[in-house]
Amino acid sequence: MADITTDVLIIGTGPAGSATAALLSTYGIENVVINRYRWLANTPRAHITNQRTMEVLRDLGRDVEDEAYMFAAEQDLMGENVFCTSLAGEEIGRMKSWGKHPLSRAEHQLSSPSHMNDLPQTFMEPLLFKTACSRGTQARMSTEYISHQQDADGVTTTCVDRLTGKEFTIRSKYLIGADGGNSKVAEHAGLTFEGKMGVAGSMNILFEADLSRYVAHRPSVLYWVLQPGADVGGIGMGLVRMVRPWHEWLIVWGYDINQPPPEVDEAHAKKVVRDLVGVPDLEPRIKQVSTWTVNNMYATTMSNGRVFCMGDAAHRHPPSNGLGSNTSIQDAFNLAWKLAFVLKGKAGSKLLDSYCAERAPVAKQIVTRANKSIEEFGPIFKALGLLDSIDPVKMQQNMDARCNNTAAAEEQRAAIRKSIADKVYEFDAHGVEMNQRYRSDAIVTDGQAEPAFTKDAELHYQPTTWPGARLPHAWVFSGDGTKASTLDLTGHGKFTVLTGIGGEGWIEAARAVGRELGIEIAAHVIGPRQHWQDFSGDWANAREVRDSGIVLVRPDHHVCWRSDVIAADPVAELYRVMTAILDK
Ligand code: FDA
Repeated sequence: MADITTDVLIIGTGPAGSATAALLSTYGIENVVINRYRWLANTPRAHITNQRTMEVLRDLGRDVEDEAYMFAAEQDLMGENVFCTSLAGEEIGRMKSWGKHPLSRAEHQLSSPSHMNDLPQTFMEPLLFKTACSRGTQARMSTEYISHQQDADGVTTTCVDRLTGKEFTIRSKYLIGADGGNSKVAEHAGLTFEGKMGVAGSMNILFEADLSRYVAHRPSVLYWVLQPGADVGGIGMGLVRMVRPWHEWLIVWGYDINQPPPEVDEAHAKKVVRDLVGVPDLEPRIKQVSTWTVNNMYATTMSNGRVFCMGDAAHRHPPSNGLGSNTSIQDAFNLAWKLAFVLKGKAGSKLLDSYCAERAPVAKQIVTRANKSIEEFGPIFKALGLLDSIDPVKMQQNMDARCNNTAAAEEQRAAIRKSIADKVYEFDAHGVEMNQRYRSDAIVTDGQAEPAFTKDAELHYQPTTWPGARLPHAWVFSGDGTKASTLDLTGHGKFTVLTGIGGEGWIEAARAVGRELGIEIAAHVIGPRQHWQDFSGDWANAREVRDSGIVLVRPDHHVCWRSDVIAADPVAELYRVMTAILDK
């Protein structure tokens, strides 16, 4: 007999685990979450929070979304991405990032009701964790996962209580490994991976110092410092990252991965800070120093039977593009509703196979993109002449050469501008953040070919209701002046039917099929004199079906089926689709 029983056991209270717990509790599913430490993230770690993640928080509740904004540094403070020789030194170039460029900002505003922001993990984790616990999650800190065994009916997990040293077991119907980049759950579940761990060494130095005078006129989350010869690798690129504007910072600095991680004492840490800030007598308050490795590895299978892995347990990559915690929370949004439907007996277990089918390609995509983004610093180094020599004096001369009045220098200046502008694939890749189109048995085709991307799919989000894509955002309005996003009309643990005038048959069908399957299917007619009206025509332009057509949306905002016009027998048609998706 197990000591504790629950429906879902979650290992880890990071962004993935806490988000899963919050969603499951919101959906009314019993769950236990454990963390081997006594508390949550104690360093800021992930921070860039993209619109898709904010939509998950919004789905958890407007109060949750609003609290995130309250603690976040707003988007306007994020985007003057600076390349310089030190914060107090010479600026080499700048690019507008994270939706700061007016054209990019317009795309952000048109794409989502939610805003990108900078929310350090020290704020995100407590918010998700608190939401989970206040809605029913049982949390156990100082509790370490040791091993698990699964059988036909469930999983028995052995844990150790680190306060008493005693082992105990938890019996659950499903186990989720949200236990980070060294996931034991993934290892014990025998998940398959591609790639390599430990491709480069990095050091984080967290410190406090008021740096307003060097940064407030060019507000950014990232300041890239290039100092030839300043480290073993030669180029000496360091990152000064804003944690709290403008008094708390994190420096990321490399170390030689072929050597053991360095012991960094306070004096060493202060020297790195002073060098990168460029103020020799700066008195930073060093708060913490840690080392970590750059990884390039993703799971090709994210589940085995009743065991699922998510977050860093499944995708391990550098912080480039700010995809770590975002993807973790989005994994949770994909899996949680599926578990809820299966556990409530509303779906067959085959629905759970779609988690891996849908999220493993995302894992590969983001790991590949994040590592490519590191390589894409190469052209900047090249343009500055930092790759032509390992002699710091020569490297400095090469950098200085860009100021000359020669044809070669003009060419060099153009190359520097281009190489910095090309970093848009790391610092403003809206398509990478928003363009996920799922293919699985939980998506039913309408027979239409996938729409090709008309712009660069990594840079630009392209809305479509093609089944598998995220529902496009459009504002709709009610008679009392309320405005809501189409994303607000959907989600919240339910399937939703969106239709227009002439599509009332779909509303009837939603009721009838919902009754038959024992689930609530939300349904809205959007049009004149209906509860929700499309005064601007934005929804009509986005929906890609006629007024009497249907867009069927899953609880995670992804379109799972659509039809151009009303069917001859809407009940039969909706029943066919819903039973296929739910494996009923
Ligand atoms: P995460 O690692 O956050 O959480 C894992 C959880 O599992 C923790 O609660 C842990 O205690 C628990 N756990 C592990 N093993 C366990 C066991 N055996 N038993 C019980 N509990 C166990 N990303 C980014 O985008 N920008 C950045 O600047 C950084 N910087 C950064 C610095 C450092 C030091 C780290 C460690 C990581 C980053 N990251 C980052 C990565 C980012 O933090 C990461 O992508 C997300 O935290 C992933 O969230 P997860 O919930 O998947 O794992």
